[in-house]
Amino acid sequence: MKAPIYMDIMAIYFAILPILFAFSVFLAVKKKYKLHFQTQTLLLASSLIVILYFEINVRLYGGFVKYSDNSSLSFEFLLVYLIIHILIATASLGGWLYLYISSLKEYKNSGIESFKSSKHKKIGKAIFYSMSLSSYMGVLLYVLIFYK
Ligand code: HEM
Repeated sequence: MKAPIYMDIMAIYFAILPILFAFSVFLAVKKKYKLHFQTQTLLLASSLIVILYFEINVRLYGGFVKYSDNSSLSFEFLLVYLIIHILIATASLGGWLYLYISSLKEYKNSGIESFKSSKHKKIGKAIFYSMSLSSYMGVLLYVLIFYK
């Protein structure tokens, strides 16, 4: 079975998201905070839209049980992999939303200076790594289902 188009879009988007995310963090390293904020806004919004688009389509046109038939790997293996992927991805996305909203509030209340003493850097880096892991685990699942 050929992968449906919405899955291709999802896989391409999440293959490049970690690169764009790294660029947004690089802007903060270079002290371009406004661009860092703007790129974070754009990436978070586009990720939420792509995930919503995917979740709607997967429910309308397929579902994991149907697609997993396509793979030569066992259903049990794919299911365990999917559950681990969902747990990491949900925690990462929740963390990303939390950091975005709390950073925006912190900036409005106390300005840029307060970020120096906050845990923003540490949490931001952890979210970058876990979002990258979630993205590539998702892309690998797509490969395992449609090309293996
Ligand atoms: C929503 C508004 C945001 C604002 C206003 C903001 C602002 C800032 C500022 C001012 C810094 C510099 C901190 C310092 O010098 O110690 C910074 C660094 C950083 N931010 Fe954000 N940020 C936002 C969202 C995010 C999000 C959502 C993430 C990741 C999920 C993130 C990841 C990072 C990282 C990893 C650094 C450290 C860069 C370095 O190593 O120097 N930021 N941000």
